[in-house]
Amino acid sequence: GSKRSSVKKIVTDPKERQRLVENIVKPFILDDAVYKRVCDVMLDNFNKGLGKETNAEARVKMFPTYVRSVPDGTEEGDFLALDLGGTNFRVLLISLKGQEVNMESKIFLIPQHIMLGTGIQLFDHIADCIYKFMKEQKIEKKTLPLGFTFSFPCKQLGLAKAKLTTWTKGFKCEGVEGNDIVQLLHEAIKRKGDMEVECLAVINDTVGALMSCAHSDRQCAIGLILGTGTNACYIEKLENVGLWDSDYNDPKEVIINTEWGAMGDDGGLDFLITEYDKHVDKHSINGGKQIYEKMISGMYMGEIVRLVLEKLRRNGLLFGGVGSEELSKRGRFYTKYVSEIESDVDESDFKSTKQVFEELELTNYTDEDCRIALYVCSLVSTRAAYLASAGIATLLNKMGRKDVSVAVDGSLYRFHPHFHDLMVEKIEKLVTPGIRFKLMLSHDGSGKGAALVAAVANRLRDEEAK
Ligand code: GLC
Repeated sequence: GSKRSSVKKIVTDPKERQRLVENIVKPFILDDAVYKRVCDVMLDNFNKGLGKETNAEARVKMFPTYVRSVPDGTEEGDFLALDLGGTNFRVLLISLKGQEVNMESKIFLIPQHIMLGTGIQLFDHIADCIYKFMKEQKIEKKTLPLGFTFSFPCKQLGLAKAKLTTWTKGFKCEGVEGNDIVQLLHEAIKRKGDMEVECLAVINDTVGALMSCAHSDRQCAIGLILGTGTNACYIEKLENVGLWDSDYNDPKEVIINTEWGAMGDDGGLDFLITEYDKHVDKHSINGGKQIYEKMISGMYMGEIVRLVLEKLRRNGLLFGGVGSEELSKRGRFYTKYVSEIESDVDESDFKSTKQVFEELELTNYTDEDCRIALYVCSLVSTRAAYLASAGIATLLNKMGRKDVSVAVDGSLYRFHPHFHDLMVEKIEKLVTPGIRFKLMLSHDGSGKGAALVAAVANRLRDEEAK
């Protein structure tokens, strides 16, 4: 039938089949020398981003944040938080009382037409969601401070002033790039009327992860997100931040939002890019941008696997050459399938893998097909974990501290069965001997972190008013 029309001859000899499969997946298997080279490129990018003269042309922007003081436990009251830019859009209510933290939250959908619509539509939608949430919580009459986790590259001009530089991941709303997102939010809240909400802080999700771990772990100095997108922030000495404009009130250290997803946008990673990466990039809404992110994060990983599976099938190496309409659809192979398939341990009956195949309406598969699909998933996710490790190792080596905890969050890290272990193994190989590190799961930094930062800002403002 048509489903196999473009298929070359079916390879049945097991040895020959194995050899041909290996040949196709080879580009995903990289040795440590390659990952070391990634570290070198990363360090170059970091330094370029931090330099006053070089920042303008740098792809990795190294944005200084305005987050300074950490919560001291005296913050009290109710705070709203918004979390935009991950898998879900959420509105949260966080009540602080001493060490006690209570949270209520609600997930709202952002329809595709809004993600690709105008900024006005997006922020009106956000204001609607805040209003609905406040009604439900019966707090619509209250005046509430708000913290906004906005997980996109922003040039911070103050704690509550952040200009979006470019959209990333699945968003592309007209009229937002170059503008202050707090102002856009406040305007939408005003248009909606009937609520007293003031945004006191905008943070990146990496900063939220760092903040919520630093609360309990003083060694915590890196925040890492491995979710829809990937990015990291870290604590840098002010003297290393050339692009910093000095002020009488200078801190000794600042949190830098690296926006490392943009590494490779200048061709710097071309030495390891595969045809599949090129294909994913070409069909994305931000072609040529976020090259490193596209090799790692959840928004793209499933699609990379799908492209490899399709190629194997076309070459008569998978499913007896018979695919399905579902498998041929762009974006249809979700990244969660990668985690599910890899949860089938060796010598299993491939229960999860077969379930995924059924969902994709594949009918012509054997155990050997399951084994090959699992192998492809593991190669693609391992490369992702190792690439992210190169980034973390570069940060650890650059910071030069003896003991560092890395706060990690994001759906990919949470749900993939081996991501954590793969990263620990590779970071150990790439890090300067003597440096010790821990990767710890950060619990809901995007929600709690934003509220905590807003709470601190609120306390400082109250103290100043006294
Ligand atoms: C994208 C965004 C970045 C965010 C990351 C993880 O890379 O540009 O700001 O931190 O995704 O959500």
